[in-house]
Amino acid sequence: MKSSSYSGFYKLSPRERLDIVGEFANLSEDEKDLVFKQSGLDIDTANNMIENVIGTFALPMGVAINFKVNGVDKLIPMAVEEPSVVAAASNAAKMARDSGGFFTSSTDPVMIGQIQLIGVENPKYTRNIILENKEKIMEICNEQDPVLVEFGGGIVDLDVRVIDTIVGEMVIIHLKVNTLDAMGANAVNTMAEAVSPFIEEITGGKVQLRILSNLAIYRLARARVKLSKESLGGEEVVDKIIETYAFAKADPFRAATNNKGIMNGIIPVVAATGNDTRAIESGAHAYASITGQYTSLTVWEKDINGDLVGSIELPMAVGLVGGATKVHPVAKIAVKILDIKTANELGEIIAAVGLAQNLAAIKALATEGIQRGHMGLHARTLATVAGASGDLLEKIVKQMVEEKNVRLEYAKELYEKYK
Ligand code: MEV
Repeated sequence: MKSSSYSGFYKLSPRERLDIVGEFANLSEDEKDLVFKQSGLDIDTANNMIENVIGTFALPMGVAINFKVNGVDKLIPMAVEEPSVVAAASNAAKMARDSGGFFTSSTDPVMIGQIQLIGVENPKYTRNIILENKEKIMEICNEQDPVLVEFGGGIVDLDVRVIDTIVGEMVIIHLKVNTLDAMGANAVNTMAEAVSPFIEEITGGKVQLRILSNLAIYRLARARVKLSKESLGGEEVVDKIIETYAFAKADPFRAATNNKGIMNGIIPVVAATGNDTRAIESGAHAYASITGQYTSLTVWEKDINGDLVGSIELPMAVGLVGGATKVHPVAKIAVKILDIKTANELGEIIAAVGLAQNLAAIKALATEGIQRGHMGLHARTLATVAGASGDLLEKIVKQMVEEKNVRLEYAKELYEKYK
Protein backbone atom coordinates (compact mmCIF):
# COMPACT_ATOMS: atom_id res chain seq x y z
CA MET A 1 0.00 0.00 0.00
CA LYS A 2 1.22 3.51 -0.82
CA SER A 3 2.52 5.64 2.03
CA SER A 4 2.05 9.41 2.31
CA SER A 5 4.82 9.59 4.90
CA TYR A 6 8.27 10.64 3.69
CA SER A 7 11.19 11.66 5.85
CA GLY A 8 13.01 14.82 4.84
CA PHE A 9 10.35 15.73 2.26
CA TYR A 10 10.71 19.41 3.19
CA LYS A 11 14.42 19.33 2.41
CA LEU A 12 13.90 18.33 -1.24
CA SER A 13 13.67 20.76 -4.12
CA PRO A 14 10.19 21.50 -5.50
CA ARG A 15 10.93 19.37 -8.58
CA GLU A 16 12.09 16.43 -6.47
CA ARG A 17 8.95 16.69 -4.36
CA LEU A 18 6.83 16.86 -7.49
CA ASP A 19 8.46 13.71 -8.81
CA ILE A 20 7.53 11.90 -5.60
CA VAL A 21 3.97 13.19 -5.78
CA GLY A 22 3.89 12.25 -9.47
CA GLU A 23 4.83 8.71 -8.62
CA PHE A 24 2.30 8.56 -5.79
CA ALA A 25 -0.52 9.87 -7.97
CA ASN A 26 0.53 8.47 -11.36
CA LEU A 27 0.91 11.90 -12.89
CA SER A 28 2.13 12.08 -16.48
CA GLU A 29 5.15 14.21 -17.42
CA ASP A 30 2.74 16.72 -18.97
CA GLU A 31 0.69 16.93 -15.81
CA LYS A 32 3.80 17.46 -13.73
CA ASP A 33 4.99 20.19 -16.09
CA LEU A 34 1.63 21.89 -15.82
CA VAL A 35 1.82 21.98 -12.02
CA PHE A 36 5.41 23.19 -12.14
CA LYS A 37 4.90 26.00 -14.61
CA GLN A 38 4.73 29.57 -13.25
CA SER A 39 1.00 29.45 -13.68
CA GLY A 40 -0.68 26.25 -14.79
CA LEU A 41 -3.52 28.44 -16.03
CA ASP A 42 -3.20 29.75 -19.58
CA ILE A 43 -4.64 33.14 -20.42
CA ASP A 44 -7.38 31.84 -22.70
CA THR A 45 -8.73 29.50 -20.05
CA ALA A 46 -8.51 32.29 -17.48
CA ASN A 47 -10.34 34.62 -19.83
CA ASN A 48 -13.19 32.13 -20.05
CA MET A 49 -13.44 31.79 -16.28
CA ILE A 50 -14.20 35.35 -15.16
CA GLU A 51 -14.73 38.81 -16.67
CA ASN A 52 -12.28 41.57 -17.56
CA VAL A 53 -9.27 39.27 -17.32
CA ILE A 54 -5.87 40.92 -17.52
CA GLY A 55 -3.68 38.04 -16.37
CA THR A 56 -3.43 35.27 -13.80
CA PHE A 57 -2.45 35.26 -10.14
CA ALA A 58 -0.37 32.36 -8.91
CA LEU A 59 -0.18 31.00 -5.38
CA PRO A 60 2.28 28.45 -4.03
CA MET A 61 0.83 24.94 -4.08
CA GLY A 62 2.30 22.62 -1.48
CA VAL A 63 1.50 19.08 -0.49
CA ALA A 64 0.71 18.07 3.07
CA ILE A 65 2.11 14.63 3.80
CA ASN A 66 1.46 11.92 6.40
CA PHE A 67 -2.33 11.93 6.02
CA LYS A 68 -4.23 8.70 6.48
CA VAL A 69 -7.97 9.00 5.93
CA ASN A 70 -10.20 5.99 6.53
CA GLY A 71 -7.12 3.78 6.42
CA VAL A 72 -5.87 5.13 3.08
CA ASP A 73 -2.74 7.28 2.73
CA LYS A 74 -3.39 10.61 1.06
CA LEU A 75 -1.26 13.48 -0.17
CA ILE A 76 -3.09 16.77 0.23
CA PRO A 77 -2.56 19.57 -2.32
CA MET A 78 -2.86 22.98 -0.67
CA ALA A 79 -2.81 26.35 -2.45
CA VAL A 80 -2.03 29.01 0.13
CA GLU A 81 0.10 32.09 0.74
CA GLU A 82 0.64 31.64 4.50
CA PRO A 83 3.88 30.06 5.70
CA SER A 84 3.67 27.15 8.17
CA VAL A 85 0.20 25.96 7.16
CA VAL A 86 1.38 23.00 5.06
CA ALA A 87 4.07 22.06 7.60
CA ALA A 88 1.61 22.24 10.50
CA ALA A 89 -0.98 20.07 8.73
CA SER A 90 1.72 17.51 7.89
CA ASN A 91 2.94 17.47 11.51
CA ALA A 92 -0.53 16.96 12.92
CA ALA A 93 -1.22 14.20 10.40
CA LYS A 94 2.01 12.54 11.48
CA MET A 95 0.96 12.55 15.13
CA ALA A 96 -2.41 11.10 14.13
CA ARG A 97 -0.93 8.22 12.12
CA ASP A 98 -0.04 6.25 15.28
CA SER A 99 -3.69 5.77 16.11
CA GLY A 100 -4.88 5.15 12.56
CA GLY A 101 -5.24 8.69 11.22
CA PHE A 102 -8.57 10.32 10.46
CA PHE A 103 -11.97 8.71 10.08
CA THR A 104 -14.71 10.48 8.20
CA SER A 105 -18.34 10.44 7.15
CA SER A 106 -20.82 12.74 5.48
CA THR A 107 -24.48 13.26 4.72
CA ASP A 108 -25.85 13.03 1.21
CA PRO A 109 -24.87 16.16 -0.75
CA VAL A 110 -28.16 17.96 -0.20
CA MET A 111 -28.21 21.71 -0.77
CA ILE A 112 -30.91 24.19 0.19
CA GLY A 113 -32.52 26.55 -2.31
CA GLN A 114 -34.48 29.37 -0.68
CA ILE A 115 -37.61 30.98 -2.09
CA GLN A 116 -38.82 34.13 -0.36
CA LEU A 117 -42.57 34.57 -0.58
CA ILE A 118 -44.05 37.89 0.51
CA GLY A 119 -47.42 39.60 0.43
CA VAL A 120 -49.45 36.70 1.74
CA GLU A 121 -52.31 37.46 4.15
CA ASN A 122 -52.07 34.32 6.22
CA PRO A 123 -48.53 32.96 6.26
CA LYS A 124 -49.22 29.85 8.33
CA TYR A 125 -52.26 28.93 6.28
CA THR A 126 -50.22 29.56 3.10
CA ARG A 127 -47.49 27.29 4.44
CA ASN A 128 -49.95 24.42 4.47
CA ILE A 129 -51.09 25.17 0.91
CA ILE A 130 -47.49 24.95 -0.27
CA LEU A 131 -46.90 21.70 1.57
CA GLU A 132 -50.07 20.20 0.07
CA ASN A 133 -48.52 20.86 -3.35
CA LYS A 134 -45.21 19.28 -2.50
CA GLU A 135 -45.44 16.58 -5.18
CA LYS A 136 -46.11 19.09 -7.96
CA ILE A 137 -43.37 21.45 -6.73
CA MET A 138 -40.89 18.59 -6.68
CA GLU A 139 -41.97 17.53 -10.14
CA ILE A 140 -41.37 21.01 -11.57
CA CYS A 141 -37.96 21.15 -9.88
CA ASN A 142 -36.84 17.80 -11.19
CA GLU A 143 -37.96 18.64 -14.74
CA GLN A 144 -35.21 21.28 -14.75
CA ASP A 145 -32.38 18.79 -14.46
CA PRO A 146 -33.18 15.38 -15.95
CA VAL A 147 -29.50 14.39 -15.98
CA LEU A 148 -29.14 15.02 -12.27
CA VAL A 149 -32.28 12.98 -11.65
CA GLU A 150 -31.11 10.18 -13.92
CA PHE A 151 -27.94 9.82 -11.87
CA GLY A 152 -29.90 9.64 -8.61
CA GLY A 153 -29.99 13.31 -7.63
CA GLY A 154 -32.70 15.96 -7.70
CA ILE A 155 -35.03 17.43 -5.13
CA VAL A 156 -35.55 15.17 -2.14
CA ASP A 157 -37.79 17.22 0.13
CA LEU A 158 -39.35 20.56 0.87
CA ASP A 159 -39.56 22.67 4.03
CA VAL A 160 -41.66 25.75 4.57
CA ARG A 161 -40.82 28.21 7.33
CA VAL A 162 -42.62 31.32 8.46
CA ILE A 163 -40.17 33.94 9.68
CA ASP A 164 -40.76 37.24 11.40
CA THR A 165 -38.87 40.21 9.92
CA ILE A 166 -38.78 43.99 10.30
CA VAL A 167 -41.27 44.24 7.42
CA GLY A 168 -43.58 41.56 8.72
CA GLU A 169 -43.93 37.80 8.34
CA MET A 170 -42.55 36.01 5.29
CA VAL A 171 -42.95 32.49 4.01
CA ILE A 172 -39.62 30.89 3.20
CA ILE A 173 -39.59 27.73 1.15
CA HIS A 174 -36.55 25.48 1.30
CA LEU A 175 -35.99 23.18 -1.65
CA LYS A 176 -33.69 20.37 -0.54
CA VAL A 177 -31.79 19.16 -3.55
CA ASN A 178 -29.32 16.30 -3.81
CA THR A 179 -26.75 17.76 -6.18
CA LEU A 180 -24.51 14.67 -6.25
CA ASP A 181 -20.97 15.60 -7.30
CA ALA A 182 -21.77 19.20 -8.18
CA MET A 183 -21.40 22.08 -5.75
CA GLY A 184 -24.97 22.61 -6.80
CA ALA A 185 -25.53 26.35 -6.97
CA ASN A 186 -26.60 26.25 -10.61
CA ALA A 187 -28.94 23.30 -10.25
CA VAL A 188 -30.58 24.71 -7.13
CA ASN A 189 -30.95 28.26 -8.41
CA THR A 190 -32.46 27.02 -11.67
CA MET A 191 -35.02 24.94 -9.78
CA ALA A 192 -35.88 27.80 -7.41
CA GLU A 193 -36.46 30.17 -10.31
CA ALA A 194 -38.47 27.64 -12.33
CA VAL A 195 -40.87 26.70 -9.56
CA SER A 196 -41.61 30.23 -8.37
CA PRO A 197 -44.47 31.06 -10.81
CA PHE A 198 -46.31 27.95 -9.60
CA ILE A 199 -45.80 29.00 -5.99
CA GLU A 200 -47.16 32.45 -6.74
CA GLU A 201 -50.12 30.86 -8.50
CA ILE A 202 -51.13 28.60 -5.62
CA THR A 203 -50.53 31.19 -2.89
CA GLY A 204 -51.45 34.52 -4.47
CA GLY A 205 -48.21 35.86 -2.99
CA LYS A 206 -45.16 37.42 -4.60
CA VAL A 207 -41.89 35.53 -4.87
CA GLN A 208 -38.86 37.72 -4.38
CA LEU A 209 -35.50 35.97 -3.81
CA ARG A 210 -34.71 32.60 -5.33
CA ILE A 211 -31.23 31.59 -4.29
CA LEU A 212 -29.14 28.86 -2.72
CA SER A 213 -28.30 29.02 0.98
CA ASN A 214 -24.66 28.57 1.94
CA LEU A 215 -25.72 27.35 5.35
CA ALA A 216 -25.76 23.82 3.96
CA ILE A 217 -26.92 21.97 7.08
CA TYR A 218 -27.93 18.93 5.05
CA ARG A 219 -24.56 18.67 3.37
CA LEU A 220 -22.20 18.03 6.26
CA ALA A 221 -18.74 16.51 6.31
CA ARG A 222 -17.29 15.03 9.49
CA ALA A 223 -13.89 13.84 10.64
CA ARG A 224 -12.57 12.43 13.88
CA VAL A 225 -9.14 11.63 15.22
CA LYS A 226 -7.59 10.10 18.31
CA LEU A 227 -4.13 11.01 19.60
CA SER A 228 -2.35 9.04 22.25
CA LYS A 229 -1.14 11.16 25.14
CA GLU A 230 2.37 9.85 24.37
CA SER A 231 2.28 11.18 20.82
CA LEU A 232 1.40 14.60 22.23
CA GLY A 233 4.04 14.64 24.94
CA GLY A 234 2.05 13.48 27.95
CA GLU A 235 -1.30 13.88 29.64
CA GLU A 236 -0.53 17.46 30.72
CA VAL A 237 -0.44 18.40 27.05
CA VAL A 238 -3.83 16.75 26.56
CA ASP A 239 -5.19 18.80 29.47
CA LYS A 240 -3.70 22.01 28.11
CA ILE A 241 -5.21 21.35 24.68
CA ILE A 242 -8.60 20.85 26.28
CA GLU A 243 -8.23 24.10 28.22
CA THR A 244 -7.35 25.81 24.95
CA TYR A 245 -10.44 24.32 23.30
CA ALA A 246 -12.61 25.29 26.29
CA PHE A 247 -11.61 28.90 25.71
CA ALA A 248 -12.69 28.73 22.03
CA LYS A 249 -15.92 26.95 22.91
CA ALA A 250 -16.88 29.64 25.42
CA ASP A 251 -15.63 32.83 23.78
CA PRO A 252 -16.51 34.09 20.28
CA PHE A 253 -13.37 36.24 20.14
CA ARG A 254 -11.19 33.17 20.56
CA ALA A 255 -13.55 30.97 18.50
CA ALA A 256 -13.09 33.27 15.50
CA THR A 257 -9.32 32.76 15.58
CA ASN A 258 -9.64 29.07 16.36
CA ASN A 259 -11.91 28.67 13.34
CA LYS A 260 -9.58 30.80 11.22
CA GLY A 261 -6.94 28.19 12.03
CA ILE A 262 -9.33 25.45 10.87
CA MET A 263 -9.91 27.39 7.67
CA ASN A 264 -6.12 27.55 7.23
CA GLY A 265 -6.40 23.84 6.46
CA ILE A 266 -9.72 23.81 4.69
CA ILE A 267 -9.50 26.74 2.28
CA PRO A 268 -6.17 25.78 0.62
CA VAL A 269 -7.62 22.39 -0.38
CA VAL A 270 -10.87 23.98 -1.51
CA ALA A 271 -8.82 26.45 -3.59
CA ALA A 272 -6.44 23.84 -5.00
CA THR A 273 -9.39 21.78 -6.22
CA GLY A 274 -10.97 24.80 -7.89
CA ASN A 275 -13.88 25.04 -5.47
CA ASP A 276 -15.64 28.11 -4.09
CA THR A 277 -13.73 29.20 -1.00
CA ARG A 278 -16.25 31.89 -0.04
CA ALA A 279 -19.10 29.38 -0.02
CA ILE A 280 -17.16 27.18 2.38
CA GLU A 281 -16.16 30.10 4.63
CA SER A 282 -19.68 31.47 4.93
CA GLY A 283 -21.18 28.02 5.51
CA ALA A 284 -18.62 27.19 8.17
CA HIS A 285 -18.99 30.39 10.16
CA ALA A 286 -22.79 30.36 9.96
CA TYR A 287 -22.75 26.75 11.16
CA ALA A 288 -20.40 27.72 13.99
CA SER A 289 -23.11 30.03 15.28
CA ILE A 290 -26.13 27.86 14.61
CA THR A 291 -26.97 27.61 18.30
CA GLY A 292 -27.06 31.40 18.61
CA GLN A 293 -23.55 31.60 20.03
CA TYR A 294 -20.55 31.56 17.70
CA THR A 295 -18.28 28.74 18.83
CA SER A 296 -15.53 26.33 17.80
CA LEU A 297 -16.16 24.11 14.79
CA THR A 298 -14.09 21.37 16.42
CA VAL A 299 -14.60 19.53 19.69
CA TRP A 300 -11.69 18.17 21.77
CA GLU A 301 -12.10 15.77 24.68
CA LYS A 302 -10.07 13.43 26.83
CA ASP A 303 -11.03 9.77 26.65
CA ILE A 304 -10.99 7.22 29.43
CA ASN A 305 -7.29 6.44 28.85
CA GLY A 306 -6.24 10.08 29.01
CA ASP A 307 -5.82 10.26 25.23
CA LEU A 308 -7.10 13.15 23.15
CA VAL A 309 -10.09 12.70 20.85
CA GLY A 310 -11.23 15.36 18.43
CA SER A 311 -14.01 15.81 15.92
CA ILE A 312 -15.33 18.29 13.42
CA GLU A 313 -18.59 18.66 11.49
CA LEU A 314 -19.33 21.45 9.05
CA PRO A 315 -21.19 22.27 5.83
CA MET A 316 -19.14 21.20 2.85
CA ALA A 317 -20.49 22.40 -0.48
CA VAL A 318 -17.67 21.27 -2.73
CA GLY A 319 -18.00 19.67 -6.12
CA LEU A 320 -16.04 17.70 -8.64
CA VAL A 321 -18.09 18.50 -11.72
CA GLY A 322 -18.71 21.92 -13.12
CA GLY A 323 -17.03 25.15 -12.16
CA ALA A 324 -13.30 25.72 -12.02
CA THR A 325 -12.66 22.15 -10.87
CA LYS A 326 -13.26 20.90 -14.37
CA VAL A 327 -11.69 23.89 -16.12
CA HIS A 328 -8.55 24.80 -14.21
CA PRO A 329 -5.82 22.38 -15.33
CA VAL A 330 -4.05 22.39 -11.97
CA ALA A 331 -7.32 21.86 -10.08
CA LYS A 332 -7.86 18.72 -12.15
CA ILE A 333 -4.41 17.50 -11.16
CA ALA A 334 -5.09 18.32 -7.50
CA VAL A 335 -8.17 16.09 -7.70
CA LYS A 336 -6.04 13.37 -9.26
CA ILE A 337 -3.45 13.66 -6.46
CA LEU A 338 -6.25 13.26 -3.92
CA ASP A 339 -7.41 10.16 -5.79
CA ILE A 340 -11.11 10.73 -5.17
CA LYS A 341 -14.18 9.86 -7.17
CA THR A 342 -16.95 11.76 -5.39
CA ALA A 343 -17.55 15.22 -3.99
CA ASN A 344 -18.34 13.63 -0.64
CA GLU A 345 -14.91 12.00 -0.50
CA LEU A 346 -13.36 15.37 -1.21
CA GLY A 347 -15.45 17.05 1.49
CA GLU A 348 -14.50 14.44 4.06
CA ILE A 349 -10.78 14.82 3.34
CA ILE A 350 -11.15 18.58 3.62
CA ALA A 351 -12.83 18.16 7.03
CA ALA A 352 -9.93 15.94 8.13
CA VAL A 353 -7.41 18.58 7.05
CA GLY A 354 -9.35 21.24 9.00
CA LEU A 355 -9.26 19.08 12.10
CA ALA A 356 -5.52 18.42 11.65
CA GLN A 357 -4.80 22.12 11.19
CA ASN A 358 -6.71 22.98 14.37
CA LEU A 359 -4.84 20.29 16.28
CA ALA A 360 -1.49 21.69 15.14
CA ALA A 361 -2.48 25.22 16.12
CA ILE A 362 -3.94 24.47 19.52
CA LYS A 363 -1.10 22.12 20.44
CA ALA A 364 1.43 24.82 19.60
CA LEU A 365 -0.59 27.49 21.40
CA ALA A 366 -1.06 25.30 24.45
CA THR A 367 2.63 24.49 24.71
CA GLU A 368 5.47 26.45 23.12
CA GLY A 369 3.34 29.21 21.57
CA ILE A 370 2.90 29.81 17.88
CA GLN A 371 5.89 32.04 17.23
CA ARG A 372 8.70 29.54 17.55
CA GLY A 373 7.54 27.43 14.62
CA HIS A 374 6.63 30.55 12.68
CA MET A 375 10.02 32.21 13.06
CA GLY A 376 11.94 29.90 10.74
CA LEU A 377 9.27 30.23 8.10
CA HIS A 378 9.04 33.95 8.55
CA ALA A 379 12.82 34.18 8.21
CA ARG A 380 12.54 32.22 4.97
CA THR A 381 9.98 34.68 3.60
CA LEU A 382 12.16 37.65 4.57
CA ALA A 383 15.33 36.12 3.10
CA THR A 384 13.42 35.49 -0.15
CA VAL A 385 12.17 39.07 -0.21
CA ALA A 386 15.76 40.23 0.37
CA GLY A 387 16.71 38.39 -2.82
CA ALA A 388 18.35 35.21 -1.50
CA SER A 389 17.80 31.75 -2.91
CA GLY A 390 19.31 28.25 -2.70
CA ASP A 391 22.17 27.68 -0.24
CA LEU A 392 22.50 31.37 0.49
CA LEU A 393 18.85 31.49 1.55
CA GLU A 394 19.38 28.54 3.92
CA LYS A 395 22.44 30.22 5.43
CA ILE A 396 20.63 33.52 6.04
CA VAL A 397 17.57 31.79 7.52
CA LYS A 398 19.74 29.77 9.89
CA GLN A 399 21.65 32.81 11.07
CA MET A 400 18.55 34.95 11.60
CA VAL A 401 16.83 32.23 13.63
CA GLU A 402 19.93 31.42 15.69
CA GLU A 403 20.45 35.06 16.50
CA LYS A 404 16.69 35.55 17.05
CA ASN A 405 16.94 38.53 14.75
CA VAL A 406 14.20 37.96 12.18
CA ARG A 407 13.75 41.29 10.45
CA LEU A 408 13.73 42.30 6.80
CA GLU A 409 16.51 44.86 7.29
CA TYR A 410 18.74 42.19 8.77
CA ALA A 411 17.89 39.73 5.96
CA LYS A 412 18.92 42.40 3.44
CA GLU A 413 22.11 43.14 5.38
CA LEU A 414 23.08 39.45 5.43
CA TYR A 415 22.25 39.10 1.75
CA GLU A 416 24.49 42.03 0.83
CA LYS A 417 27.25 40.58 2.99
CA TYR A 418 27.21 37.03 1.61
CA LYS A 419 26.02 37.31 -1.96
C1 MEV B 1 -2.88 31.62 12.34
O1 MEV B 1 -3.02 31.74 10.95
C2 MEV B 1 -3.89 30.64 12.90
C3 MEV B 1 -3.92 30.54 14.44
O2 MEV B 1 -4.10 31.83 15.00
C4 MEV B 1 -5.07 29.64 14.78
C5 MEV B 1 -5.40 29.59 16.25
O3 MEV B 1 -5.12 30.55 16.99
O4 MEV B 1 -5.99 28.58 16.67
C6 MEV B 1 -2.64 30.01 14.97
